[in-house]
Amino acid sequence: MTKETDWQERYQTEDTPWDKGEPAPGLVDWLKKHTLDPDARILVPGCGRGHDASAWAKAGFDTTGMDLAEIALSDAREKYESLPNLAFFPGNFLDEKPQEPYDLIFEHTLYCAIDPARREDYAKSLPNWLKPGGYFLAIHFIFPLDEEGPPFGASKDEIINRFQRNFTLRDDWKPRHFEGRKNEEWMFLWQRKT
Ligand SMILES: C[S@@+](CC[C@H](N)C(=O)[O-])C[C@H]1O[C@@H](n2cnc3c(N)ncnc32)[C@H](O)[C@@H]1O
Repeated sequence: MTKETDWQERYQTEDTPWDKGEPAPGLVDWLKKHTLDPDARILVPGCGRGHDASAWAKAGFDTTGMDLAEIALSDAREKYESLPNLAFFPGNFLDEKPQEPYDLIFEHTLYCAIDPARREDYAKSLPNWLKPGGYFLAIHFIFPLDEEGPPFGASKDEIINRFQRNFTLRDDWKPRHFEGRKNEEWMFLWQRKT
């Protein structure tokens, strides 16, 4: 459907309109309202320059940001070097497995960034990264899928159908959003089936 995006080049040429320089408002609100086991280990795949990952680390959690693009990771390390509980490493979320699965995965603008033909690979890979009973918290772009992307849209039904095999949907809602993303985002909290 699409040619693979060269993410490294997008960062190299500063062609990064998704990067708002701060964590997603929906995540900031969620962190204010919810508590988790303080020992929970968090993974943010497709973390880019690490703004969402930094919000988890500032909330006190041991957090790992992972991305394909080395340039983004190096910017992230520089910007957030004062946070000792935050680490960044290169990796491909679709093809790899961690040595130790995480307690919670936070997704924001990764699912919409990958080729829609690989969405099943994403759904299959997700449980590899997460402990049984672990949480998958996601902000998805909800708009019609067409050939122009990334970002590639999705419908709520598509997302629910794709993840409900291995996950139980605990909640879903419209989050506070960045300017320009009105009516585009929907947030989901899933729990991995045991
Ligand atoms: C649209 S950007 C969003 C970055 C970040 N989440 C943000 O909101 O600023 C998508 C990111 O996903 C990364 N990415 C794409 N495919 C990936 C994969 N298979 N595994 C890990 N990261 C990936 C890209 O390098 C890029 O940084």
